[in-house]
Amino acid sequence: MIICSCAVISERDIDCAVIEIMSAGTALIPTPGVVFRHLNKKMNCCTCAPVAVSAIYNAMDRLAADTRVCPFALADARAKLIRIEERRAIRQRRVETAASALRTSSAQRRIVA
Ligand code: FES
Repeated sequence: MIICSCAVISERDIDCAVIEIMSAGTALIPTPGVVFRHLNKKMNCCTCAPVAVSAIYNAMDRLAADTRVCPFALADARAKLIRIEERRAIRQRRVETAASALRTSSAQRRIVA
């Protein structure tokens, strides 16, 4: 299944990249950016990011089931990925709140004027 149509990356490509990244022994967390760089590809529209994240989680689950990579390293990487996603969600909520406040204040200015 194609995960990213811009860079033409399949689920199998992501599986292989996650295996190589997690087996390398480096402290890299397989975020979509790390996986894409590992594949020498670049995100274009980023529409595939949520699907890429779930494909990465699936690849990590398969790795954990196969016991090909240390389960502690996988659990640590997964916990870091979750923290990254939580920070991203908080940032997104702040942006949406600020945009909403901006819209409200500009609407109030129009009413006053
Ligand atoms: S679909 Fe992946 S970058 Fe556009």
